[in-house]
Amino acid sequence: MTAECTFKSKDLLGIKELSKDEIALILDTASGFRDVLRRDIKKVPALRGKTAVNLFFEPSTRTRTSFELAEKRLSLDVLNLSVTTSSVVKGETLMDTALNVQALGADFMVIRHPSSGVPHLLSGNIKASVINAGDGTNEHPTQALLDAFTIMEKKGRIEGLRVAIVGDILHSRVAKSNIYLLTKFGAEVRLIGPPTLVPKRLEQLGVKTFYDMETGLKDADVIMMLRIQMERQDRGFFPSTLEYSRYWGLNMERLSLADKEAIVMHPGPMNRGLEIASDVADGPRSVILEQVTNGIAVRMAVMYLLGGVRG
Ligand code: CP
Repeated sequence: MTAECTFKSKDLLGIKELSKDEIALILDTASGFRDVLRRDIKKVPALRGKTAVNLFFEPSTRTRTSFELAEKRLSLDVLNLSVTTSSVVKGETLMDTALNVQALGADFMVIRHPSSGVPHLLSGNIKASVINAGDGTNEHPTQALLDAFTIMEKKGRIEGLRVAIVGDILHSRVAKSNIYLLTKFGAEVRLIGPPTLVPKRLEQLGVKTFYDMETGLKDADVIMMLRIQMERQDRGFFPSTLEYSRYWGLNMERLSLADKEAIVMHPGPMNRGLEIASDVADGPRSVILEQVTNGIAVRMAVMYLLGGVRG
């Protein structure tokens, strides 16, 4: 993977919009920041004097804290706003909130929102760099970037790897961003789950679909487990969590179907004992906590490169 381009857009809206060279540039830049994060003094003055505002209109543990740490490591001034502490609860529109945040001097706006397309809407209307931290069922680009960084770290390449993504693909922004990224880099992407959550039409994206773990996991190099989205369970996408776990949960026996060097990933939050057994999540093949650590370097790289575009 080589990085021979400059980053063009002022925003990071999705992986779909990024070229392969731009993704390689982010991953190469993240590598440098990963080294900075191993030092005693983990802070660089790259974006000193600039301001980042984190607007989170949905719960988040990893993404919000990871962005905040990345911003602080880049010497940005940081403000955090959530739906409960913003005037959105008093009826203010999202656009008015964003324009007010911009008037306060924000250079970066990191946004998570339950509606797909919100970062794109803000992007066209505000001057600050907009970074998508997860929009509805659309995309979660920094998650896919940190996943790619982790795969590169463990496997040294993406091209030609057999990557199985297991679970609720239909509603997963993590899966969408990963599908766009992994297919751009020539991985063999396999989607596994119940037919209601893995529609055949997704094969138009250059992936293979499987409805049973035994076939889909065979010789896989990377297994990405997705969270069972309990909030959608009442809509009948699968009979029960117990049944889901029995057919599509990852346990040690199923892990043995994959390549003997296979790594296990999960974006979190995990439902232990449902989509993933605890001995797998905590076992030697799991890179789940390394994904979290790598997220800081990747988000630093994204903000640093967008900062360069903004001058
Ligand atoms: N992976 C992820 O988006 O986790 P959070 O919801 O905790 O941010």
